[in-house]
Amino acid sequence: ATTLGASAAARNRYFGAAIAASKLGDSTYTTILKREFTSVTAENEMKWDATEPSRGVFSYTAGDRILNQAQANGQKVRGHALAWHSQMPGWAQALSGSTLRSAMLNHITQVATHYKGKIHSWDVVNEAFADDGRGSRRDSSLQRTGNDWIEAAFKAARAADPGAKLCYNDYNTDGVNAKSTAVYTMVKDFKARGVPIDCVGFQSHLTDNAPADYQANLQRFADLGVDVQITELDIAGNNQTAAYTAVTKACLAVSRCTGITVWGIRDSDSWRTGTNPLLFDASGNKKAAYTAVLNTL
Ligand code: XIL
Repeated sequence: ATTLGASAAARNRYFGAAIAASKLGDSTYTTILKREFTSVTAENEMKWDATEPSRGVFSYTAGDRILNQAQANGQKVRGHALAWHSQMPGWAQALSGSTLRSAMLNHITQVATHYKGKIHSWDVVNEAFADDGRGSRRDSSLQRTGNDWIEAAFKAARAADPGAKLCYNDYNTDGVNAKSTAVYTMVKDFKARGVPIDCVGFQSHLTDNAPADYQANLQRFADLGVDVQITELDIAGNNQTAAYTAVTKACLAVSRCTGITVWGIRDSDSWRTGTNPLLFDASGNKKAAYTAVLNTL
């Protein structure tokens, strides 16, 4: 096939991009978006600060624009993210303890209900583990509501939208290391105790290379009985063509790897300013990494 989306579909997978509602009037951007991708993620528009700017006051305008545009283009939508220590609205940052816990659970219930039936996979909890090399939970106000905050979040999401796949999503979990092993242990425990979880997202904000054990890491999670997804792929530095090829091959080699999402379309759209980590240049031309991914799919 001649596009990322069609080639991935031939391998029973989606190929997605994170997009911004503010760019939907840019025709270079929307031309690539419609042509290449079969899934979209809102880069910011479905986060807590965007969807509940004041407590109990929900704002879905920008998120709905992304959803409606995707549906009009026949693309499916990944939900990102229901509970995360970052991009919390100011009012929630001011809460703690049981008040924060109920605000978080209400947020999940409301947002997942609003988008019920329209999201293929939700990042229910994002980035809950630390980078301390010991696999600790990240210290955050959410974590301080009690160690069971993650399973409470997943249960609330399942109750609100039973049809969505519920994912745990994180970065620096792309290879086998203390952080990914801590996530692995949590997922294994959730599966053993019947806590609802369906997928693990690997952000894959990489530089130069994918870890040598990238595929093995995806596989060990898949072997727990969850899907795996590459959720925010971008690769800075040298060797982009080889690294994108390696990530694509790894996903194809793991039968439960259901799709890949790149975190933006053109280099100029990337949050990693100045690193040109994406598949299209600032003018919208296909880069060598694009061709490598297409030919690997
Ligand atoms: C980033 C967005 O790309 C930026 O526009 C925003 O300013 C900050 O967040 N991990 C995630 C994403 O889960 O939500 C982040 O997205 C990138 C890191």
